[in-house]
Amino acid sequence: MALKILLADPSNEWLASTSAYLKQLLYEVEIVNTGKKAQLALYNGEFFAVVLNLDIKNHSGLEVLKFVRTKHVGQRVVVTVENAEMLKSEELSAEKLVKLGASEIMIRPFTMEQLKDVLEGQQSIDDLVKNIPKYTGSVEEVEVAESDANFTRVKIEEFYTGKAILFNVYIQLGPNKYVKILYSGDTFSLDRLNRYKNEKGVKYLYFHNADRRKYIQYSNYLASKIITSDKVSGQAKVKMLKATAEKLIEEVYSVGLKPQAVEESRQLAKNMYELLENQQDLFKVLKEFQEFDPNAYTHSYSVTFFATAIIKQFEWQSKVMIETAAMACLLHDIGKIKMPKELMCKRPEEMTQGELELYKKHPLFADEILSGNLMIGQNIRQIILQHHEYFDGTGFPYGLKGNKVLTISNIISLCDDLVHSMLKDQITPPEALKRIILNERLVKRYNSLILENFMKVFVDPAKVMKNHPLPSNSRMVPKKREAS
Ligand SMILES: [Fe+2]
Ligand SMILES: [Fe+2]
Repeated sequence: MALKILLADPSNEWLASTSAYLKQLLYEVEIVNTGKKAQLALYNGEFFAVVLNLDIKNHSGLEVLKFVRTKHVGQRVVVTVENAEMLKSEELSAEKLVKLGASEIMIRPFTMEQLKDVLEGQQSIDDLVKNIPKYTGSVEEVEVAESDANFTRVKIEEFYTGKAILFNVYIQLGPNKYVKILYSGDTFSLDRLNRYKNEKGVKYLYFHNADRRKYIQYSNYLASKIITSDKVSGQAKVKMLKATAEKLIEEVYSVGLKPQAVEESRQLAKNMYELLENQQDLFKVLKEFQEFDPNAYTHSYSVTFFATAIIKQFEWQSKVMIETAAMACLLHDIGKIKMPKELMCKRPEEMTQGELELYKKHPLFADEILSGNLMIGQNIRQIILQHHEYFDGTGFPYGLKGNKVLTISNIISLCDDLVHSMLKDQITPPEALKRIILNERLVKRYNSLILENFMKVFVDPAKVMKNHPLPSNSRMVPKKREAS
């Protein structure tokens, strides 16, 4: 069943061309050129999304938005505005529009491709599953010759099973040579997966880059289902979030921070919070966590994992704070996409003077990228901008000092050093932390409270004495014991 979209815009020309474009993408489209007709259409039908030009007349765009908010709660509305100037008044600020129910705001001029991305970003798992053409034929393995550049891969043990597959899945035979083993709509059983893994020695499953967003959305959704379950180990949950985060960051680095990636980052941040909140044995995983893939995607996830665990130890921590920090951590190095690829994983100590100067701009590049994204809050931008500022003033880009450096940013810089140290020397997190503490130059970079809280992360909550002077909300003190 096709998803239905209502286009409400005063320009008949725009309506005609956009409608033709969306129909090609298999959407069903209804068009209206006045606000009144938009309300009538909403009254008579159900729409997956409404694309509403705020400039529409005869019931203004704002009136339609208010109508949707009161009469059609939950309706997705993509609001389009003629120019950025329009959002400068208080009445029409982006924040106000979001409060009024805009699920996305697009500023003209935008391309059809951008509209397509936004609409895809609005699709829930249900929408996604509903629209997947189900494969009903018998599963035949088909060999295909196709460029490696078109594929992305995940470790076979990190791929989900028992659920409908939303895209074709391949295994690699050799360079530019693949076998299609699963079709979109098919289900992957654990048995079959184990056969590939154990009998054929398959280490990775491949799918097209274009399907990466579906993989992220689906595995993020599955993670949200298991994250509070007692039956799944902390280790397995961490792995699942890791696999999702890595693909998410890969997607952001490859095609930019599109609306769906922002949405999925938010979901992942929520999952991260739930993991920290509910998993009493997480300290074990944190202690042993060693992820030595030297790539930028794994790096960002590892930083997210440790940084949020430290924040959880602070008295002032809250759900919002942890989710905000997790978002910032996932995207902290996004500025690096403006640097040459070979610099992405290079450490400052290995760089030439010219490279180093460019590298030191990556927090500023990040700020530039994020400033164009209305869905990323100012607080996240600030954290990222400061993620290499140090407590002793030796950081960059501004050399801020002491309390001028945001605590969350300082935590990220500590985790950044920690993760690099783990990778370089192939050591466990507690060992890497010890090295940082024993290094006089490094230890001055961080607010000592952060280091103290980091040590607490590795402690078994069950061994903490009831009267131990810890923050009342510390996850180290098990809730049940507190009550007794
Ligand atoms: Fe960085
Ligand atoms: Fe980093």
